[in-house]
Amino acid sequence: MAGRSVFKTFLVLFHLLPAADPEVSCVFRHSCLLPCQFQSGSGSVIRWSNPSSAGDSVVHSYYDGQDQLGQQNQKFQGRTSLILDQISRGNASLLLKEVKIQDEGRYKCNISSSTGYKESFINLKIDAPVSDIRIHQDGNRITCSSEGIYPQPELTWSTEPPSNTALQNRTTVHQTEEKLYDISSSLTGPDGPDLIYTIKTIRDDIKGEFVKIKMSVTTEEPESGST
Ligand SMILES: *[C@@H]1O[C@H](CO)[C@@H](O)[C@H](O)[C@H]1NC(C)=O
Ligand SMILES: *[C@@H]1O[C@H](CO)[C@@H](O)[C@H](O)[C@H]1NC(C)=O
Ligand SMILES: *[C@@H]1O[C@H](CO)[C@@H](O)[C@H](O)[C@H]1NC(C)=O
Repeated sequence: MAGRSVFKTFLVLFHLLPAADPEVSCVFRHSCLLPCQFQSGSGSVIRWSNPSSAGDSVVHSYYDGQDQLGQQNQKFQGRTSLILDQISRGNASLLLKEVKIQDEGRYKCNISSSTGYKESFINLKIDAPVSDIRIHQDGNRITCSSEGIYPQPELTWSTEPPSNTALQNRTTVHQTEEKLYDISSSLTGPDGPDLIYTIKTIRDDIKGEFVKIKMSVTTEEPESGST
């Protein structure tokens, strides 16, 4: 029963997603293909720009049969390329290398050629998924930490079997210069139930990756307090 109502909620949320520019998600530091198609013709003038940043900055441009990078915004320098043998086939997709969180945003592709003019938009999102969780136990205090996550992660602690007592955690979040999140959370483990630590990244849509770890606190015979 409970499972069924959860499923309904999921469907409703799904239908409420707004129709917007096509979205492309890429993984931090990887290469990313921003798709753009046009009706192939001769004399193509291709311009990729980034209207979301201050002004309208040039990401990549191509005319007279070659790349024209004189006006390129320097933050894209050396990281963009068109697939030259694809242009004659009406494929002006842009390859962006070594993507950064700062590359997120709206991209415009506009093209004029003998067949006419076309423009299209892409909304680029960058993900840096949770890749590693370090677990450190000191007495009955457990600390879980992860680094280099984007977007901002959300974490929860719970016990199995569930218990009503609030878990006293201490959580710190730090955003690095690369805009990645480092997060660390510790709590004093209750003796007995297993502890469940779940961490997930939050996006405005429903997909999101999460990592869940189950652990138990094993308290050893307390050592003598004398030093
Ligand atoms: C455009 O070119 C890229 C790179 O070769 C390729 O991955 C992509 O599938 C092409 N798109 C179409 C619609 O042909
Ligand atoms: C593409 O759009 C830019 C503005 O974003 C404009 O300056 C440029 O002339 C357009 N290119 C073509 C080929 O129309
Ligand atoms: C951590 O503790 C605070 C209260 O101190 C509570 O509001 C919060 O929900 C707890 N967080 C987790 C992840 O359990």
